[in-house]
Order: sequence, then structure tokens, then C-alpha cells
Amino acid sequence: MGQATTSGTALGGAAIPDPYSLPLETLDVSKAGIFAANAHGEYFRRLRQEAPIHYCPDSMHGAYWSITTYDDIMAVDTNHADFSSQDNIVIGDAPEDFVTPMFIAQDPPVHDDQRKAAQPAVQRPQLAILEPQIRAHVCDILDNLPDGEFNWVDTVSRELTARMLATLFDIPQEDRLKLTHWSDVTTTAEGAGVENVDEEARKAELMECLQYFGALWAERSAKPPQMDFVSLLAHNPHTKDMMKDPLEFLGNLMLLIVGGNDTTRNSISSGVVQMDCNPGEWAKLKADPSLIPNMVAETIRFQTPLGHMRRTATRDVDFKGHNIRKGDRVVMWYVSGNRDDAFWGDPDAYRIDRPEARRHMSFGFGIHRCMGNRIGEMQLRILWEEVLKRFDRVEVTRDPKRVASNFVMGYDEVMTRVHAKS
Ligand code: HEM
Repeated sequence: MGQATTSGTALGGAAIPDPYSLPLETLDVSKAGIFAANAHGEYFRRLRQEAPIHYCPDSMHGAYWSITTYDDIMAVDTNHADFSSQDNIVIGDAPEDFVTPMFIAQDPPVHDDQRKAAQPAVQRPQLAILEPQIRAHVCDILDNLPDGEFNWVDTVSRELTARMLATLFDIPQEDRLKLTHWSDVTTTAEGAGVENVDEEARKAELMECLQYFGALWAERSAKPPQMDFVSLLAHNPHTKDMMKDPLEFLGNLMLLIVGGNDTTRNSISSGVVQMDCNPGEWAKLKADPSLIPNMVAETIRFQTPLGHMRRTATRDVDFKGHNIRKGDRVVMWYVSGNRDDAFWGDPDAYRIDRPEARRHMSFGFGIHRCMGNRIGEMQLRILWEEVLKRFDRVEVTRDPKRVASNFVMGYDEVMTRVHAKS
């Protein structure tokens, strides 16, 4: 566990400073460039070692606490009475003139009622119905890959998640790319750590999304209940009046679109990158496909598709000797907890047979634990089952390009070439 040796380069070429060269008291781990350069690992290592509960007095988002160890993150995530999700779940505050309530950013009882309304779309009985549909999409995509080099992110990851979302909303597949577009618009927000965003253009795009789904709401309310998200919300007694506050409807749409999109997309891309970097793990998987479910969990741990969730203290709290004041931002860095060597053995290694992989933090814990975790995992499992049937290797041909965000841990580009089984 020595000093940081590698510091990456941010987008635009600016060097990322060695975290050990910066004063600990003002260390700011929220800068998007640190993540784009894949330099965040050393920053969090330093915090875990020297200040696992750390107060950053100033950042582009204001002051915030960082919670960086596995156990402390678990303690905050499971204590929703002291650490609230109300209004803001990312480090930056949502713009005050454009408040879009959504159940991930609400406390009980509203949270519980709305979550229960939407959940059946991604629960066990429905998964059995969706599995063959998802498999058909996976096969179609993999059987029609280009011959030469192509961007796996667009051709496979985006395409597959878009098709799954269109299925969950039961909208025509021709409209699927609208969903990924609106997801991108939602996550390209300053509140989520992305810099220089045109907020007005962003709002205009989201109003288009509202218009599209408003029409769908009217249509689904008039029909008997179905298992898609909009129909479930339109017919549940707790959510059937949601359209009276269109921004609340929009907020929940954004949640359901983003929740299922970026996260799964980046887990798919990450699997390809990790398999290419770790040929021994790929050989293990080919030799024993029954490892796929564990490989999926390990990929989700290793990638941590959402780097953090934020809470707000509801009162003055003495948290392990630190005086967290009412109203303070408290950021749980899952991306750090998933690499905490007090919990994980050899955490920076990608090991598809890691016995405790399923205990990763990437889905969160407590009442907000990811609602779509099973369908996300199912999609990844099916993809790798079908990849193994077809390909000897998925080769990554250039350095992948990472998303510049402290929230979405992902890839904009992973150039690949597939080698069919001989
Ligand atoms: C919540 C991650 C897939 C829908 C969350 C949370 C995380 C997360 C970290 C917040 C947990 C917390 O605050 O404690 C992921 C990852 C995924 C994934 C890593 C895939 C690998 C999905 C899918 C869907 C989905 C496929 C839906 C189709 C949601 C929803 C919530 C949520 C609705 C809010 C739950 C609540 O507030 O009660 N997810 N997610 N997620 N996720 Fe996921």
C-alpha cells in the first residue's frame, strides 16, 4: 500500500495530481476529471487510510462528507432516519427551479408506496416472462455484429439496454433510442458532477420526454392494468394521481429510465474490458460457464456503475466521533467501499470466482436497494451465455474512453473485434 504512483490525464489533457501531494484537509474527490482519467482509486485509497470519514470544506457542489469504507457506507445506507434521501441523492443539489420528485429521492412513506407500485415490472414472476424476450434480443444483436472493428458500447451495450427498457415500458422498439437519449440527458447534469452543462437545453429535452410519456399515461389509464411501468403507476391507488404533478411523473420516469439504462450498459461494457485485461479469467469462464452468475456479480463490483449516492443528515449526528450537522451532505462512495481491503481480499483484482462477490455495494443497501438488480443481473447473465456460445474472444482494440462523471462510472467507447468460435 505505497504512495500513489500513477496519476492519469483528464479529458483535455490536464494532468491529475498525485493525491498524496495534496493537503488532506481540502482533498476533493468529486472532480469528474479524476474519474475520466481512472485516477480515483488512489484518491479513495488515501481517504480510506488517512481519513475514512472525511469532510471536504469546498467543492463545485459545496461542502460534503465522504464515507469511504465498506462498514461505514453500510451504516449510513441502512440508517434512513438520520441520513435522508429526500430531494437529493447525488452530490450536487438539483436546480431549485426544476424540481422533479422521484421515489429514489424520497423518504417513507411516499418512497415505499411508489416503489411498491412500480416493482412488479421487475420482480420474479415477470422475470420469467421477460427472459426469453431478452434472450431473443441478445441473440439478434450478437448474430448481426459488424465484421471489423466496432464500438461495443453503442452496438451492444446501448442497444441491448435500450431494447430491455422499451420492453419494460412496453413501447415500440423503434422508439428505444429515445429512452437512451433521455437517460443521457438526465445523467449529464451538473448535480451529477458533469461540468459545463447547458441546463436550458437539458430541460427542453426532458419536457419532450414528459410529452411522450404523458400520451402513454392517458392511453394506459384507459386500458386494463398491465405489467409495464406506466400502466402499473397509472393503476395503483398510491400513484394513479401522479400526473396531477407532471414533474413528479417526469422525475419517476427519469428514475426508471436511468436506473435501468446506464448501470446495465456500463456493466456490459465493463465485462468486455475486464475479460480483455484478464485473459486468465476469460479462460476460466470458457472452461466453466457455470461461473457466469458469479462473474456478473464480480463485474458489477469491479465496475461499481454508480460511484456514489448522497444522503442529507436529518439532525446533528455523532458518526464514529465525527460531528455531522443537520443538513450536511453525506456522500457514500460505493466505488471506494467496493475496493476496501479491510473487507475484500485483493480488491483491485478482477476474479470471476471471488467467493464473496455478491456482497458488493453496487446495488446499495437498505430501503433504497436497487429495485432492478435481478433484471440487471439476468440481462448480463444471458449476454455472457450467448457470447460464450459464439465467440472465442472479444478483443478490445484500443484504450477505452471513460465517462467524465463522479456518479456514472462507465465507458463512452470500447472499440472491439469479435473472433468467432472455430
Ligand atoms: C436504485 C444500482 C439496475 C432501477 C439503485 C441504487 C443503486 C443502483 C446504487 C440506489 C441504492 C441506494 O440508494 O441504496 C444499479 C446497478 C444496476 C442497476 C449497479 C445494474 C447493474 C437497475 C435496473 C433497474 C433499476 C435494470 C430498472 C429497470 C432502480 C430503481 C431504484 C434503483 C427504480 C430506486 C430504488 C429505491 O429508491 O427504492 N440502483 N441499478 N436499476 N434502481 Fe438500480
